[in-house]
Amino acid sequence: MENHKEIVICMGSSCFARGNKNYVEIIKKYLNEHNLTNKITFKGQLCSDNCSKGPVIQIGDTEYFEIDEQKLKRILHENFA
Ligand code: FES
Repeated sequence: MENHKEIVICMGSSCFARGNKNYVEIIKKYLNEHNLTNKITFKGQLCSDNCSKGPVIQIGDTEYFEIDEQKLKRILHENFA
């Protein structure tokens, strides 16, 4: 299992309004349920000028765009399951 990555979620107003507001809780819950809270750094960042492709989430070196709930769960599973 990959367990030393960092999750960075865009908290800029565009991404926040378009879903990241809720995805913060989904990610927190996922990390809790999988005992990853001590292994993964989870933090927010400001707008990275990718609003048109948002909501944006970064895991490790990979940026993910146009996140929806289903895609978010798949990405978490791919990276951490
Ligand atoms: S608000 Fe997220 S990229 Fe601009």
